[in-house]
Amino acid sequence: MAERIFIFDTTLRDGEQAPGYSMNLDEKIRMAKQLETLGVDIIEAGFAISSPGDFESVEAIAGAVERPVVASLARALKKDIDAAWNAVKKARHPRIHVFLATSDLHLEYKLKISREEALRRIEENVTYAKSLCDDIEFSCEDATRTDLAFLAAAVEKAIECGATTVNLPDTVGYSTPDEIKAMVMYVKEHVRNIDKAVISMHNHNDLGLAVANSLAGIEAGARQIECTVCGIGERAGNAALEELVMAMKTRGDKFEYTNGIVTEEIFRTARLLSNTTGVKINPSKAIVGDNAFAHESGIHQHGMLANKKTYEIMTPESVGVVKTSLVLGKHSGQHAFSKKLEELGYIVSKEEETSLFQDFKNLCDKKKKISDRDIVALVEAKENPERTIWALESFVVNSGNHMTSTACMTLKKISDGKLYQEVAAGTGPVYASLRCVEKIIKHPFSLDEYQLQAVTEHKDALGEALVKVTDSSGTYRGRGVSTDVVEASILACLNAVNKMLCEQEGAIRGADGVNTATKLSFENDMLFEHTDKKGEE
Ligand code: KIV
Ligand code: ZN
Repeated sequence: MAERIFIFDTTLRDGEQAPGYSMNLDEKIRMAKQLETLGVDIIEAGFAISSPGDFESVEAIAGAVERPVVASLARALKKDIDAAWNAVKKARHPRIHVFLATSDLHLEYKLKISREEALRRIEENVTYAKSLCDDIEFSCEDATRTDLAFLAAAVEKAIECGATTVNLPDTVGYSTPDEIKAMVMYVKEHVRNIDKAVISMHNHNDLGLAVANSLAGIEAGARQIECTVCGIGERAGNAALEELVMAMKTRGDKFEYTNGIVTEEIFRTARLLSNTTGVKINPSKAIVGDNAFAHESGIHQHGMLANKKTYEIMTPESVGVVKTSLVLGKHSGQHAFSKKLEELGYIVSKEEETSLFQDFKNLCDKKKKISDRDIVALVEAKENPERTIWALESFVVNSGNHMTSTACMTLKKISDGKLYQEVAAGTGPVYASLRCVEKIIKHPFSLDEYQLQAVTEHKDALGEALVKVTDSSGTYRGRGVSTDVVEASILACLNAVNKMLCEQEGAIRGADGVNTATKLSFENDMLFEHTDKKGEE
């Protein structure tokens, strides 16, 4: 029987730590549920001690998924382990993931402790974690730059104290596949109790070797791989889940292992991540980029027509890129629309469907051909009615190349149903419109990022605006789509503003990056905490 590789997904922890990828509570829960559908074995839901927001989302994810193990990261510190346990304990399958650096470089300069002290801390903290939870993972941070004999001692100690998974991260993405293989083999040979734990790989991509290193680790005996959707993560990111899984599937002749991933869910998961965070997938990204299955050159097209295998090593369908059958237009009814949503993987309530169908019909009046990408954009930009405080009623802008732009806008306040109107001037129509929003809602904010792009080709394309706005409570993302780019911009701004105001009214908790000021990136925190507190983590 082929051996099983456990897929440990850290999109919501290592991935979310990366700039631009922060998600709010609802978004994290949605992502976690999609990861469950994707079939990952373990979801690392966050780093509970790092911020109240992280704690809350780990706890919420623990309650939201059924099948996967839910893990929280913890430094080898009692307070971290307590926070991790409190956050995951309601999960059906909880795990505490304790880590401590083991390389001399980290011990000497970051932690300022000796190897003996490191072993003592492993013993104390893994034992403590084990007293709370059965499933304990221990990571030797910077394992690939750790003296091998000491690495073996650390791993052996962790297993002795109850760790059932031992992770050997290439924290700085420095190793090569042959070195990873040698490290795993060394640990297998020199750790007396290694048969009592699963060896795990966690490779960063600083030299672009994360996936190759993870596969090398598997060949040497690792049975758990830590990875993220689209390879997001600290600095250059982590090993990309989709690349690892498809490498194993496509090259099953070399990698005779099984895993639980439903590969047909890969594309949908990557799209969800991109739509949630507003970070576009690189078109050339392996497996999930727009060009991953595009064959432009004549020679390739000729070959593909003769036999797809000439240039296609895996099918788009195998990763969930479906060529959909239904083409929608002006005359399509709600039934066909509903089928299309289903085909695209959206599960929506009847009310949501009816409201989206109305948006679709409005779009049909403005645009002849409605593509799947248009429908995805409509769904992804849909305001959540429960979180709508202000809605756009109408606007007029006046702008030209030799004048100051002006905007007149009417917004509806949902709580009292009243209409509020303002006029404002600005150096362009978007600026003037956003000033109107600010004047009406009477809440100052700054616009930190603004992106505008066409959803599809052609002159009548939908415009999609993505914004990031900030006030004193945090940063909030918004998305808006319309065939009118000014309207798309206003909708995106209102989307972000609604999140911001909801957060302040306490209607929802956990905003996009709301805790960025207090959330600790564990590396910085450690450096900071250790500068003057010798030896104490
Ligand atoms: O890169 C790393 O070493 C980590 C550990 C905390 C697992 O993310
Ligand atoms: Zn990492």
